[in-house]
Amino acid sequence: MIGSKGMLGKDLMGVLPSSFPDDEVIGWDIEDIDIQKEEDTATQIEKLQPHIVIHVAAYTDVDGCELDEEKAFAVNAEGTKHITLAASRCRAKVVYLSTDYIFDGNKREPYLENDLPSPLNVYGRSKLKGEQYIQEWMKDALIIRTQWLYGSYGKNFVTSILQQATEKKVLSIVNDQVGSPTYTADLAKAISILIGVDARGIFHVANSDLCSWYIFGQAVLKLSGLDKVRVIPISSKEFGRPAVRPSYSVLDCQKLKKETGLTLRPWTEALKNYLNTYRLRISREGR
Ligand SMILES: NC(=O)c1ccc[n+]([C@@H]2O[C@H](COP(=O)([O-])OP(=O)(O)OC[C@H]3O[C@@H](n4cnc5c(N)ncnc54)[C@H](OP(=O)(O)O)[C@@H]3O)[C@@H](O)[C@H]2O)c1
Repeated sequence: MIGSKGMLGKDLMGVLPSSFPDDEVIGWDIEDIDIQKEEDTATQIEKLQPHIVIHVAAYTDVDGCELDEEKAFAVNAEGTKHITLAASRCRAKVVYLSTDYIFDGNKREPYLENDLPSPLNVYGRSKLKGEQYIQEWMKDALIIRTQWLYGSYGKNFVTSILQQATEKKVLSIVNDQVGSPTYTADLAKAISILIGVDARGIFHVANSDLCSWYIFGQAVLKLSGLDKVRVIPISSKEFGRPAVRPSYSVLDCQKLKKETGLTLRPWTEALKNYLNTYRLRISREGR
């Protein structure tokens, strides 16, 4: 796996060895392989001769991508091409993680796998280019689009809200973007199931039900007993981030259900589970 030290990568490193006990799972991150470098990427992958390359490495800072388009495309698009070319020479299947931000949000109902992409920002365009390279070079690859990730490793929306709640009495949260918050632990299990059934093509995978960031933030505070913190809904324009986000990017996950029988639990349930794990970790660490 490439991107093994990221938020999703760490959960996958936990799930995959028990899902595939007969296989060896090897994790690489930027210090082992820089996917921007074509030759190094090719040498490393070809030396290993893997059966599957799970590619979850990316430049994921959406606003950073907007300010550094060159890096966004070098990592997310060209990096993906380098991995795909090397993997195809080893006849290894690539599993690639993509994003809801390849859609513009105008559909206003859940996006299907074959809906036309039309990204609004550089991150979305660079990830879509990655998808296109894979589709051009590999027939049996698996592309999994997901969204609004949070998990036990690294900074994310939930940890940011909890941190801000210790510093401020009033938080302003965007209320005009709708999606499905997705727990990386649930996503990691779904990915391992898709790999287990040798799924190919594009799949949408996210926790069920939808909300705005404002509703998500309120739920984080309520479930953490921080109801006293006031939350003000604001528009994306007022928030003023460099990258435009789709106002609606809910993913239709019916194909996942049809092919594996799996539906990810509602985001509220996943969030409760995550916060319980988070509290346990904090108390163990004596914070
Ligand atoms: N986070 C989300 O909400 C979200 C939503 C939809 C889709 N996705 C996709 O899901 C996947 C996993 O996301 P995530 O949030 O777990 O990402 P993440 O935490 O940012 O992890 C990505 C990992 O890739 C590494 N990386 C960056 N540039 C690299 C390079 N040139 N060569 C090798 N490794 C490199 C990063 O290292 P450094 O940290 O040192 O840079 C990091 O360890 C990505 O493909 C992302 O596009 C994420």
